[in-house]
Amino acid sequence: MKIAITGGAGFIGSHLVDALIGNELLVIDNLSSSTTKYIQNYIDNGDIRFVNADIASLDSSLLEGVDIVYHYAACPDVRLSSEATEKIYHDNVLGTFRVLEAMRKNDVKKIVFASTSTVYGNAEKIPTPEEYPSRPISNYAASKVFGEAFIQSYAATYGFDYTIVRYANIFGPRSNHGVIWDFYHKLMKNPNELLILGNGLQNKSYLYIDDTVEATLLAAKASGIFNIGSEEQITVNEIAKIVASELGLNPKFKYTAPVAGKPVGGWKGDVPAFLLDVTKIKTELGWSPKTPIREAIKKYIDWMRKV
Ligand SMILES: NC(=O)c1ccc[n+]([C@@H]2O[C@H](COP(=O)([O-])OP(=O)(O)OC[C@H]3O[C@@H](n4cnc5c(N)ncnc54)[C@H](O)[C@@H]3O)[C@@H](O)[C@H]2O)c1
Repeated sequence: MKIAITGGAGFIGSHLVDALIGNELLVIDNLSSSTTKYIQNYIDNGDIRFVNADIASLDSSLLEGVDIVYHYAACPDVRLSSEATEKIYHDNVLGTFRVLEAMRKNDVKKIVFASTSTVYGNAEKIPTPEEYPSRPISNYAASKVFGEAFIQSYAATYGFDYTIVRYANIFGPRSNHGVIWDFYHKLMKNPNELLILGNGLQNKSYLYIDDTVEATLLAAKASGIFNIGSEEQITVNEIAKIVASELGLNPKFKYTAPVAGKPVGGWKGDVPAFLLDVTKIKTELGWSPKTPIREAIKKYIDWMRKV
């Protein structure tokens, strides 16, 4: 199999590279939020071909002979997406369009697309199944809805097969963003106080990277849209307590929103409460999440301690 992975130098992408090594791999990444650190060995040993390129100006001929594209290159930052609107358009909208065009021109038959739970916005139905309508409340989510829609239209028009995976918050070694990363680094700087964005009552779902990769590879063998996440929600306050206790600290928590009532998001576009319904991937593909959140946070903190 010749497989192209856009964003393959990044957090999830580089784990996919690890899992798919042995195939003929082409990694396309402009290193805008990563380095080649996690794939450098493979590049040096000639196990993969790495092309430093912006997908928004992708040379179509790169995808010649490719059987399947894992499209993971994107700006993954909801918070940034309210300000860096041109960047979201460039990386996520134009970038996805160029990838699809390159696929069309080279008759590539399959795409696996990294989408997000945020496409559901403030869903009234929790857990939220795949059939629930997309109602984005951030520019990031809207860019992913664009990607999903164009993938489906290209699939219908040009005969592609597609798998769209809608991820919960993914975390684990190599991730350099997200709430756990943020708390750990804030507490390293100031062990006495932790500023929590929002009111701490945000109640979300997370998934450890190993479980994510396993689910993604299974979903890639099937077609259609799959929610991928854990079956448990956890509040931001609980995460703060776990991170602090893992570090042996007892900091004072401060908040950017009043600590009462409903969950309040920490930034524009933040979906304050969600849980994905993962019945489809469980029943159709036999997958279920394995790593409990507390154990996963510990593993991630162990990794952050070493880097
Ligand atoms: N991490 C999560 O919780 C999460 C959740 C849902 C969906 N996703 C999606 O999964 C994918 C990977 O996310 P991640 O967390 O690994 O982020 P990441 O920032 O670690 O990886 C993204 C990679 O894409 C590259 N990239 C960005 N814009 C590019 C461009 N224009 N051209 C070429 N390369 C470009 C970056 O350099 C980086 O290596 C993204 O599409 C993201 O939207 C992530």
